Amino acid sequence: MCGIIGYYGKDGKAIDVILNGLKRMEYRGYDSAGVAFSDENILVVKNVGRIKDLESKLNGIERIFDIGIGHTRWATHGKVSEENAHPHTNMDETIAVVHNGIIENHAELRKQLKEKGYNFKTETDTEVIPHLIDFHYKKNNDGDFKKAFTDALKELIGAYAIVAIHKDENRIYCAKFGSSPLRLGVSKSKDEIIVASDRLALIGICEEEQILENGEIVVISKDYEKGYNIEDFEGFEIEDILRKVPKDIEAITKGEYEDFMLKEIREQPNTIRTAVGGRIEHLETLAIDNFPDLPREISRLILLACGTSWHAGKVAEYLFDEKTGIVCQAEIASEFRYKRPVLFPNDFVIAISQSGETADTLAALKLAKEKGCYIGGIVNSVGSSIAQTAAKGVYLHAGPEIGVASTKAFTSQVAVLTILKAFLTNDDNYIKKLKDGFSELPSKIEEVFKIEEQIKDIAERISGFERFLFLGRGINYPVALEGALKFKEITYRLAEGYPAGEMKHGPIALIDRETPSIFILSGKNEYYEKTMSNIQEVKSRDGRVIIVTDDKEALRKNGCLTKTDFIIEVPRIIEELSPIINVIPLQLLAYYSAKFLGWDVDKPRNLAKSVTVE
Ligand code: F6R
Repeated sequence: MCGIIGYYGKDGKAIDVILNGLKRMEYRGYDSAGVAFSDENILVVKNVGRIKDLESKLNGIERIFDIGIGHTRWATHGKVSEENAHPHTNMDETIAVVHNGIIENHAELRKQLKEKGYNFKTETDTEVIPHLIDFHYKKNNDGDFKKAFTDALKELIGAYAIVAIHKDENRIYCAKFGSSPLRLGVSKSKDEIIVASDRLALIGICEEEQILENGEIVVISKDYEKGYNIEDFEGFEIEDILRKVPKDIEAITKGEYEDFMLKEIREQPNTIRTAVGGRIEHLETLAIDNFPDLPREISRLILLACGTSWHAGKVAEYLFDEKTGIVCQAEIASEFRYKRPVLFPNDFVIAISQSGETADTLAALKLAKEKGCYIGGIVNSVGSSIAQTAAKGVYLHAGPEIGVASTKAFTSQVAVLTILKAFLTNDDNYIKKLKDGFSELPSKIEEVFKIEEQIKDIAERISGFERFLFLGRGINYPVALEGALKFKEITYRLAEGYPAGEMKHGPIALIDRETPSIFILSGKNEYYEKTMSNIQEVKSRDGRVIIVTDDKEALRKNGCLTKTDFIIEVPRIIEELSPIINVIPLQLLAYYSAKFLGWDVDKPRNLAKSVTVE
């Protein structure tokens, strides 16, 4: 939800560094963008649309700058318009501010400021910030900008990462509070400093970084030996603990791929290898390193997540069956936090999140923490807010996921949850089965890529339809949910995920020639034949079917195959790992369908990668 950046550097590089940083953070929001630079005056340039459009607008500017700020927006308060795009300024246009988060008391502050004579140009919550700083600055007789900045912060209620500049100050002022992330990046020579919502904006310039904590203010200026100073709202200096920034440029570029989404889909053999690592061989290390002091008697595992991450949690609900003696509940975080849940101190509560910044997941986790539950995280983004709050758990180490539609994070989450079951149940047979399954999983994923052309062909044939049903049962029911989510978010077609057995209780009414049903049918289980009956039910109502299956022969024998059906044959694997295999053709189906429709798969409309607002 919005990406912000501030650059303090040299050689007139501000425009380039800021645009580059914004491009890398564009996944956070991409409805509009803007920059502000400071020299004698503040120059603000904003645009509705993508960073590349802003770049074209900036091409006409001949001046060079060493200091500047930038923002890429995902609208919350106020429609998408140039006016509402950040940076926002005070009335004299001497102060410019970019903000990520929500100012909860903005209406009250706006009213007070209006009474003092401040005029507002936008509908945003953010605009109160430059006016408030201006008010305190003028109250101090234009004397002390840092004091004015801090005094303004003290009046704000909500979550914020803020970066501000003033035309007369050769400095950048930043602050962080609540769930909006902010990182400080420092170059080796210390003459280039960046603050940004994501590490991606630092890579290539800053070798060291620090994740800013709640209530920290950073002033960046050559006046400080280190180039910056960190303090709290009361002015007490805070010691910095800089860490190395990984240099992995490859991870943040598309390389040979047309889109990040396709790159990330194809990375899955490797990301699975990393997620599994030696973990399955050394389950005891999970107890020592990842979940220390976990209560011995766990009877309930609660998984908190949103969207795709929740679907990974839903897979785990099926893994923890009656034999495990552990009840596993996957809860949608935005619902869970408001349903006054019954929580016990011996509940094991885990937040699952790719970004580690999802506001609802974070809030639900904090609630469990307050209730005294043992909490942890399964997170991809290192050092993120959820990782910090959980303080224990497992990192996926899947590398940056830049395509807005989550792909590789999902399969790594499922892999880690499968290992978690092995860890919590300590069942030797299961562990042995998993070891064998995981050892062949990456090559089986590669096999799915061999039928990519066939999936592309199916995508071309079906992408013209308007609505789709995704149907699966048991552990593959969450895969149906995930297949439908992937499809709808990037093709903008209506796609519903349903348990196949539930179809006759309503959704079957939708079946006609124009509504393809995508079935996921794998593993020999007690409902295998029943799902085949569901397929027949669709066909007898003239519905088209696409079947993802590991046993084409069984379908044939059952009279379930006709010439017009589309069969996507996937390699067989143990049932526990089948969601990881089965979801891949669905990711590809969504990807190619969206491509045929001409959509931007990496940045689907109205979405943002990291949902830091409720
Ligand atoms: C869908 C998607 C979203 C996220 C959800 C949670 O492709 O990406 O549904 O899964 O917003 O995000 P994280 O995992 O970052 O908490």
